[in-house]
Amino acid sequence: MKVTVPDLIDKKKAKEKITMLTAYDYSTALILDRCGVDILLVGDSVGPIFSGYENTLPVSTEEILYHTKAVNRARKNALLVADMPFLSYQVSFEEAVKNCGLMLKAGAEAVKLEGGQEISDLVRRLTLSGIPVMGHIGLTPQSVHSMGGYKVQGKTEESRKKLITNARSLEEAGVFSIVLECVPENVAKEITETVNVPTIGIGAGRYCDGQVLVINDILGLFEGFRPKFVKKYVDLAPLIENAVKNFIDDVKTGRFPEEKHIFS
Ligand code: KIV
Repeated sequence: MKVTVPDLIDKKKAKEKITMLTAYDYSTALILDRCGVDILLVGDSVGPIFSGYENTLPVSTEEILYHTKAVNRARKNALLVADMPFLSYQVSFEEAVKNCGLMLKAGAEAVKLEGGQEISDLVRRLTLSGIPVMGHIGLTPQSVHSMGGYKVQGKTEESRKKLITNARSLEEAGVFSIVLECVPENVAKEITETVNVPTIGIGAGRYCDGQVLVINDILGLFEGFRPKFVKKYVDLAPLIENAVKNFIDDVKTGRFPEEKHIFS
């Protein structure tokens, strides 16, 4: 069944866990949608994962649009969320509304923005324009330089309070859900119990209303940095390596192509 923005709030009320995975391409999105994942996120993690960028900062609006269109062609039931890249929503309200609107024209049904209280006015403006917004607080990778690296957030009393304030402020502004990234489990629990919109955790423990992971991480396809919160469900890299080595060997020794692969 098609997942909609209001369904997610209902899922929280019904204490039904929400699932979200990143997706960047058509073939993978077909499979994920078929499996029944609630939300497909065209994350700006596409930068490091797909394009080999050092971090998410170089990702452009055009790149997210391109991948959003590809994923949109594949998905039938999952809610499609486009991640707004760095500088696509910080410069002016006008630019932000336009760039977020372009994502909806490309097939996304919502956008995700990093930030708390400081983006609340923008969230209000976007939701008034009919653009559903997913918030993202805790470790916000687009602020990697101001945070001094990829660090767990909310460990001190001051930063715990700030996270709660940010979550409340986003909820008041109209977000329909909030991603909590790399936050201690007890802080994520407190936020989840404080706000009425669903929280979707990544490295935020067991009490969030849902969980999100990067698809390449759970499939064992990304061999770079692997954070503690990732669960690898299958190790595809060695399987691919084996298949490719077999192909090379088959071609070199004449075992491929066989008669069944030939046109006559
Ligand atoms: O870009 C991304 O993949 C994300 C998720 C990790 C939430 O923002």
